[in-house]
Amino acid sequence: MDAAYNPYTPGAGKAPPALVGREEQLEEGRVVISRTARGVSADAPILYGLRGVGKTVLLKALQAQASTAGWMTVEIEGKQESTEQDLTRRRLARGLVTAARSVAPRRGRLSDAWRRALGTIGSFSLAAGATGVEVTLEVQPNEGRGDSGDPAIDLEELVSDAVPALQESHIGLAIFVDEIQDLDPATLSALISVQHRAHQNTWPFHLYGAGLPNVPAKLAEARSYAERFRFVEIGALRPEEARAAFAEPAHQEGVHYEPAALDRLVTVSGGYPYFVQVFGDQAWRAAPGPDTITAEDAAAAVTLGTSVLDDSLFHSRWNRATPAQKKLMRAMAEDPVQSQVSDLVARLRRRRPGDLSVARDELIKKGLIFAPERGVLRFTVPHMDDYIRRRPED
Ligand SMILES: Nc1ncnc2c1ncn2[C@@H]1O[C@H](COP(=O)(O)OP(=O)(O)O)[C@@H](O)[C@H]1O
Ligand SMILES: [Mg+2]
Repeated sequence: MDAAYNPYTPGAGKAPPALVGREEQLEEGRVVISRTARGVSADAPILYGLRGVGKTVLLKALQAQASTAGWMTVEIEGKQESTEQDLTRRRLARGLVTAARSVAPRRGRLSDAWRRALGTIGSFSLAAGATGVEVTLEVQPNEGRGDSGDPAIDLEELVSDAVPALQESHIGLAIFVDEIQDLDPATLSALISVQHRAHQNTWPFHLYGAGLPNVPAKLAEARSYAERFRFVEIGALRPEEARAAFAEPAHQEGVHYEPAALDRLVTVSGGYPYFVQVFGDQAWRAAPGPDTITAEDAAAAVTLGTSVLDDSLFHSRWNRATPAQKKLMRAMAEDPVQSQVSDLVARLRRRRPGDLSVARDELIKKGLIFAPERGVLRFTVPHMDDYIRRRPED
Protein backbone atom coordinates (compact mmCIF):
# COMPACT_ATOMS: atom_id res chain seq x y z
CA MET A 1 0.00 0.00 0.00
CA ASP A 2 1.22 3.52 -0.69
CA ALA A 3 3.22 4.57 2.40
CA ALA A 4 2.33 8.19 1.77
CA TYR A 5 -1.30 7.45 2.63
CA ASN A 6 -0.73 5.19 5.65
CA PRO A 7 -3.25 6.60 8.15
CA TYR A 8 -2.12 4.75 11.29
CA THR A 9 -0.37 6.51 14.13
CA PRO A 10 1.58 4.14 16.37
CA GLY A 11 3.39 6.16 19.06
CA ALA A 12 2.77 7.52 22.52
CA GLY A 13 0.48 10.54 22.51
CA LYS A 14 0.04 10.60 18.72
CA ALA A 15 -3.42 11.76 17.70
CA PRO A 16 -5.09 8.82 15.95
CA PRO A 17 -6.88 9.16 12.59
CA ALA A 18 -10.16 8.48 14.42
CA LEU A 19 -10.61 8.88 18.16
CA VAL A 20 -12.82 5.84 18.49
CA GLY A 21 -14.96 4.97 21.51
CA ARG A 22 -14.40 8.15 23.53
CA GLU A 23 -17.60 10.00 22.67
CA GLU A 24 -18.88 9.80 26.22
CA GLN A 25 -15.72 11.33 27.70
CA LEU A 26 -15.73 14.09 25.10
CA GLU A 27 -19.37 14.83 25.85
CA GLU A 28 -18.59 15.03 29.56
CA GLY A 29 -15.73 17.37 28.68
CA ARG A 30 -18.19 19.70 26.96
CA VAL A 31 -20.40 19.60 30.05
CA VAL A 32 -17.49 20.69 32.27
CA ILE A 33 -16.84 23.63 29.97
CA SER A 34 -20.40 24.80 29.72
CA ARG A 35 -21.07 24.41 33.46
CA THR A 36 -17.91 26.36 34.23
CA ALA A 37 -18.92 29.14 31.86
CA ARG A 38 -22.24 29.38 33.72
CA GLY A 39 -20.46 29.61 37.05
CA VAL A 40 -21.72 26.32 38.46
CA SER A 41 -19.64 23.48 39.83
CA ALA A 42 -18.17 20.91 37.49
CA ASP A 43 -15.83 17.95 37.84
CA ALA A 44 -12.93 17.56 35.46
CA PRO A 45 -11.87 13.94 35.01
CA ILE A 46 -8.77 12.14 36.17
CA LEU A 47 -8.22 9.42 33.55
CA TYR A 48 -6.49 6.22 34.52
CA GLY A 49 -5.72 2.93 32.85
CA LEU A 50 -3.11 0.62 31.40
CA ARG A 51 -0.39 1.86 29.09
CA GLY A 52 -1.41 2.32 25.49
CA VAL A 53 -5.16 2.67 26.01
CA GLY A 54 -5.18 6.26 24.79
CA LYS A 55 -5.14 8.37 27.96
CA THR A 56 -2.66 10.95 26.68
CA VAL A 57 -4.51 11.36 23.42
CA LEU A 58 -7.82 11.81 25.23
CA LEU A 59 -6.30 14.27 27.69
CA LYS A 60 -5.01 16.31 24.73
CA ALA A 61 -8.45 16.19 23.13
CA LEU A 62 -9.99 17.52 26.35
CA GLN A 63 -7.36 20.25 26.44
CA ALA A 64 -8.16 21.16 22.84
CA GLN A 65 -11.86 21.46 23.79
CA ALA A 66 -10.98 23.83 26.61
CA SER A 67 -8.62 25.91 24.48
CA THR A 68 -11.24 26.17 21.77
CA ALA A 69 -13.64 27.49 24.40
CA GLY A 70 -11.09 30.24 25.06
CA TRP A 71 -9.78 28.84 28.34
CA MET A 72 -6.32 29.29 29.74
CA THR A 73 -4.81 25.82 29.56
CA VAL A 74 -1.45 24.51 30.66
CA GLU A 75 -0.03 21.03 30.24
CA ILE A 76 2.65 19.42 32.35
CA GLU A 77 3.91 15.87 32.72
CA GLY A 78 5.04 13.94 35.78
CA LYS A 79 8.52 12.45 35.48
CA GLN A 80 10.01 9.46 37.24
CA GLU A 81 13.04 11.36 38.49
CA SER A 82 11.69 12.75 41.73
CA THR A 83 13.97 15.81 41.78
CA GLU A 84 11.80 17.40 39.16
CA GLN A 85 10.05 19.93 41.34
CA ASP A 86 11.92 22.97 40.03
CA LEU A 87 11.63 21.88 36.46
CA THR A 88 7.92 21.22 36.82
CA ARG A 89 7.42 24.61 38.37
CA ARG A 90 9.29 26.29 35.52
CA ARG A 91 7.25 24.40 32.93
CA LEU A 92 4.08 25.35 34.72
CA ALA A 93 5.18 29.00 34.85
CA ARG A 94 6.08 29.08 31.19
CA GLY A 95 2.79 27.43 30.26
CA LEU A 96 0.83 29.91 32.36
CA VAL A 97 2.52 32.89 30.78
CA THR A 98 1.93 31.58 27.27
CA ALA A 99 -1.69 30.76 28.06
CA ALA A 100 -2.27 34.13 29.75
CA ARG A 101 -0.85 35.97 26.75
CA SER A 102 -3.18 34.17 24.42
CA VAL A 103 -6.37 34.79 26.40
CA ALA A 104 -5.85 38.10 28.21
CA PRO A 105 -7.46 41.18 26.69
CA ARG A 106 -5.19 43.50 24.73
CA ARG A 107 -2.94 45.84 26.61
CA GLY A 108 -4.68 49.12 27.29
CA ARG A 109 -7.96 47.28 27.75
CA LEU A 110 -6.84 45.40 30.82
CA SER A 111 -9.25 45.53 33.70
CA ASP A 112 -7.98 45.67 37.28
CA ALA A 113 -8.84 42.00 37.61
CA TRP A 114 -6.70 41.09 34.62
CA ARG A 115 -3.84 43.30 35.82
CA ARG A 116 -3.87 41.48 39.10
CA ALA A 117 -4.06 38.04 37.47
CA LEU A 118 -1.20 38.81 35.11
CA GLY A 119 0.83 40.40 37.89
CA THR A 120 0.67 37.27 40.01
CA ILE A 121 1.39 35.01 37.06
CA GLY A 122 4.42 37.23 36.48
CA SER A 123 5.67 37.01 40.04
CA PHE A 124 5.04 33.25 40.11
CA SER A 125 7.10 32.90 36.93
CA LEU A 126 9.92 35.06 38.21
CA ALA A 127 10.13 33.00 41.38
CA ALA A 128 10.11 29.84 39.27
CA GLY A 129 13.15 31.14 37.42
CA ALA A 130 11.51 31.77 34.07
CA THR A 131 13.36 34.83 32.75
CA GLY A 132 12.16 37.76 30.70
CA VAL A 133 8.63 37.00 31.65
CA GLU A 134 7.63 40.30 33.19
CA VAL A 135 8.55 42.01 29.93
CA THR A 136 6.47 39.54 28.00
CA LEU A 137 3.38 40.09 30.10
CA GLU A 138 3.85 43.89 30.15
CA VAL A 139 2.40 44.10 33.62
CA GLN A 140 4.39 44.65 36.79
CA PRO A 141 4.86 41.45 38.74
CA ASN A 142 2.78 41.28 41.89
CA GLU A 143 5.59 41.04 44.39
CA GLY A 144 4.73 38.89 47.38
CA ARG A 145 2.01 36.94 45.58
CA GLY A 146 2.72 33.46 44.22
CA ASP A 147 6.44 33.77 44.80
CA SER A 148 7.14 32.31 48.25
CA GLY A 149 8.72 29.15 46.87
CA ASP A 150 6.21 26.91 48.62
CA PRO A 151 4.09 25.35 45.87
CA ALA A 152 1.03 24.98 48.12
CA ILE A 153 0.93 28.69 48.94
CA ASP A 154 2.00 29.91 45.53
CA LEU A 155 -0.46 27.92 43.49
CA GLU A 156 -3.29 28.91 45.73
CA GLU A 157 -2.39 32.61 45.47
CA LEU A 158 -1.94 32.30 41.76
CA VAL A 159 -5.32 30.72 41.21
CA SER A 160 -7.20 32.94 43.64
CA ASP A 161 -5.71 36.05 42.00
CA ALA A 162 -6.65 34.75 38.58
CA VAL A 163 -10.26 33.91 39.44
CA PRO A 164 -11.81 37.40 39.15
CA ALA A 165 -10.26 37.87 35.71
CA LEU A 166 -11.40 34.43 34.59
CA GLN A 167 -14.91 35.10 35.83
CA GLU A 168 -14.97 38.46 34.12
CA SER A 169 -14.07 36.77 30.83
CA HIS A 170 -16.33 33.74 31.46
CA ILE A 171 -13.48 31.32 30.97
CA GLY A 172 -11.71 28.68 33.00
CA LEU A 173 -8.13 27.92 33.89
CA ALA A 174 -7.18 24.28 33.56
CA ILE A 175 -4.00 22.42 34.28
CA PHE A 176 -3.58 19.12 32.46
CA VAL A 177 -1.18 16.72 34.13
CA ASP A 178 -0.15 13.62 32.23
CA GLU A 179 1.58 10.73 34.04
CA ILE A 180 0.22 12.29 37.19
CA GLN A 181 1.41 9.32 39.29
CA ASP A 182 4.96 10.53 38.66
CA LEU A 183 4.42 14.20 39.53
CA ASP A 184 6.60 15.34 42.43
CA PRO A 185 4.64 15.02 45.67
CA ALA A 186 4.83 18.70 46.63
CA THR A 187 3.39 19.91 43.34
CA LEU A 188 0.78 17.15 43.32
CA SER A 189 -0.40 17.92 46.80
CA ALA A 190 -0.49 21.66 46.03
CA LEU A 191 -2.57 21.09 42.90
CA ILE A 192 -4.97 18.84 44.78
CA SER A 193 -5.53 21.36 47.51
CA VAL A 194 -6.10 24.19 45.03
CA GLN A 195 -8.60 21.98 43.24
CA HIS A 196 -10.28 21.36 46.56
CA ARG A 197 -10.57 25.08 47.29
CA ALA A 198 -11.77 25.74 43.79
CA HIS A 199 -14.48 23.15 44.24
CA GLN A 200 -15.61 24.65 47.55
CA ASN A 201 -15.78 28.15 46.10
CA THR A 202 -16.97 27.25 42.59
CA TRP A 203 -13.86 28.83 41.10
CA PRO A 204 -13.39 28.28 37.38
CA PHE A 205 -10.24 26.24 37.96
CA HIS A 206 -9.83 22.59 37.03
CA LEU A 207 -7.19 19.96 37.40
CA TYR A 208 -7.37 17.34 34.66
CA GLY A 209 -5.13 14.31 34.96
CA ALA A 210 -4.12 11.08 33.32
CA GLY A 211 -2.01 8.20 34.55
CA LEU A 212 -1.61 4.58 35.43
CA PRO A 213 -4.15 2.45 37.28
CA ASN A 214 -2.57 3.29 40.63
CA VAL A 215 -3.58 6.95 40.22
CA PRO A 216 -6.73 6.91 42.38
CA ALA A 217 -4.76 5.35 45.25
CA LYS A 218 -1.84 7.70 44.70
CA LEU A 219 -4.04 10.77 44.84
CA ALA A 220 -5.79 9.53 47.94
CA GLU A 221 -2.38 9.16 49.55
CA ALA A 222 -1.34 12.67 48.59
CA ARG A 223 -4.38 14.35 50.16
CA SER A 224 -7.23 12.89 52.12
CA TYR A 225 -9.94 14.66 50.12
CA ALA A 226 -8.81 13.19 46.81
CA GLU A 227 -12.01 11.18 46.70
CA ARG A 228 -13.66 14.33 45.37
CA PHE A 229 -12.13 13.62 42.00
CA ARG A 230 -14.07 12.14 39.17
CA PHE A 231 -11.88 9.17 38.30
CA VAL A 232 -12.55 7.77 34.87
CA GLU A 233 -11.14 4.43 33.85
CA ILE A 234 -10.00 4.27 30.26
CA GLY A 235 -9.89 0.75 28.88
CA ALA A 236 -9.46 -1.23 25.70
CA LEU A 237 -11.90 -0.65 22.86
CA ARG A 238 -14.84 -3.01 22.49
CA PRO A 239 -14.58 -5.38 19.50
CA GLU A 240 -16.84 -3.31 17.27
CA GLU A 241 -14.95 -0.16 18.21
CA ALA A 242 -11.63 -1.85 17.47
CA ARG A 243 -13.01 -2.89 14.08
CA ALA A 244 -13.87 0.73 13.39
CA ALA A 245 -10.43 1.87 14.59
CA PHE A 246 -8.81 -0.43 11.99
CA ALA A 247 -11.29 -0.12 9.17
CA GLU A 248 -12.42 3.51 9.11
CA PRO A 249 -9.04 5.19 8.57
CA ALA A 250 -8.30 2.70 5.76
CA HIS A 251 -11.73 3.25 4.27
CA GLN A 252 -11.04 6.99 4.10
CA GLU A 253 -8.13 6.14 1.82
CA GLY A 254 -10.23 3.79 -0.31
CA VAL A 255 -8.78 0.64 1.26
CA HIS A 256 -10.74 -2.19 2.83
CA TYR A 257 -9.95 -5.27 4.89
CA GLU A 258 -11.02 -8.78 4.01
CA PRO A 259 -13.33 -9.87 6.85
CA ALA A 260 -10.89 -12.59 7.98
CA ALA A 261 -8.06 -10.04 8.05
CA LEU A 262 -10.05 -7.69 10.22
CA ASP A 263 -11.15 -10.48 12.59
CA ARG A 264 -7.58 -11.57 13.05
CA LEU A 265 -6.23 -8.09 13.76
CA VAL A 266 -9.04 -7.18 16.12
CA THR A 267 -8.39 -10.35 18.12
CA VAL A 268 -4.62 -9.96 18.22
CA SER A 269 -4.85 -6.29 19.23
CA GLY A 270 -7.10 -7.13 22.18
CA GLY A 271 -8.74 -3.77 21.41
CA TYR A 272 -5.78 -1.86 22.89
CA PRO A 273 -5.49 1.35 20.89
CA TYR A 274 -1.71 1.30 20.73
CA PHE A 275 -1.79 -2.26 19.39
CA VAL A 276 -4.46 -1.30 16.89
CA GLN A 277 -2.19 1.41 15.52
CA VAL A 278 0.88 -0.84 15.40
CA PHE A 279 -0.90 -3.73 13.68
CA GLY A 280 -2.83 -1.41 11.35
CA ASP A 281 0.43 0.28 10.38
CA GLN A 282 2.11 -3.06 9.69
CA ALA A 283 -0.86 -4.40 7.73
CA TRP A 284 -0.73 -1.31 5.54
CA ARG A 285 2.98 -1.78 4.94
CA ALA A 286 2.68 -5.51 4.33
CA ALA A 287 -0.15 -5.28 1.80
CA PRO A 288 1.09 -5.21 -1.81
CA GLY A 289 -2.37 -4.71 -3.33
CA PRO A 290 -3.75 -1.28 -4.20
CA ASP A 291 -6.96 -1.41 -2.19
CA THR A 292 -7.32 -4.61 -0.13
CA ILE A 293 -5.72 -5.87 3.05
CA THR A 294 -5.95 -9.65 2.81
CA ALA A 295 -5.82 -12.35 5.47
CA GLU A 296 -2.30 -13.08 4.31
CA ASP A 297 -1.30 -9.43 4.81
CA ALA A 298 -2.84 -9.53 8.27
CA ALA A 299 -0.83 -12.63 9.16
CA ALA A 300 2.36 -10.88 8.10
CA ALA A 301 1.31 -7.82 10.11
CA VAL A 302 0.90 -9.92 13.23
CA THR A 303 4.48 -11.16 12.99
CA LEU A 304 5.94 -7.78 12.11
CA GLY A 305 3.78 -5.91 14.62
CA THR A 306 4.78 -8.24 17.42
CA SER A 307 8.42 -7.50 16.84
CA VAL A 308 7.72 -3.77 16.66
CA LEU A 309 5.94 -4.02 20.01
CA ASP A 310 8.81 -5.97 21.50
CA ASP A 311 11.19 -3.21 20.47
CA SER A 312 9.03 -0.22 21.31
CA LEU A 313 7.17 -1.36 24.39
CA PHE A 314 8.49 -4.48 26.05
CA HIS A 315 12.30 -4.87 25.75
CA SER A 316 13.17 -1.53 27.29
CA ARG A 317 10.85 -2.06 30.25
CA TRP A 318 12.08 -5.59 30.83
CA ASN A 319 15.69 -4.43 30.67
CA ARG A 320 15.06 -1.76 33.26
CA ALA A 321 14.34 -4.46 35.86
CA THR A 322 16.92 -6.06 38.14
CA PRO A 323 17.33 -9.86 38.23
CA ALA A 324 15.15 -10.13 41.35
CA GLN A 325 12.45 -7.98 39.74
CA LYS A 326 12.61 -10.10 36.57
CA LYS A 327 12.05 -13.22 38.64
CA LEU A 328 8.96 -11.72 40.17
CA MET A 329 7.63 -10.67 36.75
CA ARG A 330 8.30 -14.14 35.34
CA ALA A 331 6.31 -15.63 38.18
CA MET A 332 3.51 -13.14 37.45
CA ALA A 333 3.53 -14.04 33.75
CA GLU A 334 2.33 -17.54 34.60
CA ASP A 335 -1.06 -16.14 35.57
CA PRO A 336 -3.66 -14.86 33.16
CA VAL A 337 -4.61 -11.20 33.82
CA GLN A 338 -3.37 -10.81 37.41
CA SER A 339 -1.56 -12.63 40.23
CA GLN A 340 -2.28 -13.33 43.87
CA VAL A 341 0.77 -12.43 45.93
CA SER A 342 0.23 -15.61 47.97
CA ASP A 343 0.60 -17.70 44.77
CA LEU A 344 3.74 -15.80 43.81
CA VAL A 345 5.24 -16.47 47.23
CA ALA A 346 4.68 -20.19 46.77
CA ARG A 347 5.83 -20.19 43.15
CA LEU A 348 9.07 -18.44 44.08
CA ARG A 349 9.56 -20.68 47.13
CA ARG A 350 9.53 -17.81 49.57
CA ARG A 351 8.00 -17.86 52.98
CA ARG A 352 6.09 -14.62 53.37
CA PRO A 353 4.62 -11.91 51.13
CA GLY A 354 7.11 -9.57 52.80
CA ASP A 355 9.91 -11.47 51.06
CA LEU A 356 8.67 -10.06 47.75
CA SER A 357 7.95 -6.55 48.88
CA VAL A 358 11.23 -4.90 47.81
CA ALA A 359 10.94 -6.14 44.23
CA ARG A 360 7.21 -5.44 44.23
CA ASP A 361 7.58 -1.85 45.47
CA GLU A 362 10.32 -1.04 42.98
CA LEU A 363 8.38 -2.44 40.06
CA ILE A 364 5.41 -0.33 41.12
CA LYS A 365 7.64 2.72 41.35
CA LYS A 366 9.00 2.02 37.88
CA GLY A 367 5.43 1.90 36.61
CA LEU A 368 5.70 -1.72 35.41
CA ILE A 369 3.13 -3.28 37.72
CA PHE A 370 0.37 -2.12 40.05
CA ALA A 371 -1.79 -3.53 42.80
CA PRO A 372 -5.45 -3.45 41.69
CA GLU A 373 -6.32 -4.53 45.23
CA ARG A 374 -4.52 -5.74 48.32
CA GLY A 375 -2.54 -8.92 47.74
CA VAL A 376 -2.94 -8.77 43.95
CA LEU A 377 -0.46 -7.66 41.27
CA ARG A 378 -0.91 -6.89 37.60
CA PHE A 379 1.19 -5.55 34.72
CA THR A 380 0.57 -1.96 33.60
CA VAL A 381 1.45 -2.87 30.01
CA PRO A 382 -1.12 -5.03 28.24
CA HIS A 383 0.27 -8.37 27.00
CA MET A 384 3.49 -8.00 29.02
CA ASP A 385 2.84 -11.54 30.28
CA ASP A 386 2.84 -12.94 26.70
CA TYR A 387 6.06 -11.16 26.00
CA ILE A 388 7.73 -12.59 29.08
CA ARG A 389 6.50 -16.08 28.30
CA ARG A 390 7.92 -15.99 24.79
CA ARG A 391 11.26 -14.63 26.00
CA PRO A 392 13.99 -17.17 26.69
CA GLU A 393 15.20 -17.30 30.30
CA ASP A 394 17.94 -14.73 30.99
N1 LIG B 1 -9.54 6.15 20.82
C1 LIG B 1 -8.54 5.73 20.05
N2 LIG B 1 -8.75 5.11 18.87
C2 LIG B 1 -7.73 4.69 18.11
N3 LIG B 1 -6.44 4.86 18.41
C3 LIG B 1 -6.14 5.47 19.57
C4 LIG B 1 -7.17 5.94 20.44
N4 LIG B 1 -6.58 6.51 21.52
C5 LIG B 1 -5.26 6.39 21.34
N5 LIG B 1 -4.97 5.78 20.17
C6 LIG B 1 -3.61 5.43 19.69
O1 LIG B 1 -3.06 4.59 20.71
C7 LIG B 1 -1.70 4.89 20.95
C8 LIG B 1 -1.48 5.18 22.43
O2 LIG B 1 -2.14 6.37 22.83
P1 LIG B 1 -1.70 7.15 24.15
O3 LIG B 1 -2.67 8.25 24.33
O4 LIG B 1 -0.25 7.50 24.07
O5 LIG B 1 -1.93 6.02 25.27
P2 LIG B 1 -1.60 6.08 26.84
O6 LIG B 1 -1.34 7.51 27.19
O7 LIG B 1 -2.80 5.51 27.50
O8 LIG B 1 -0.39 5.21 27.04
C9 LIG B 1 -1.32 6.00 20.00
O9 LIG B 1 -0.66 5.41 18.90
C10 LIG B 1 -2.66 6.61 19.58
O10 LIG B 1 -2.61 7.09 18.25
MG1 LIG C 1 0.31 8.40 28.01
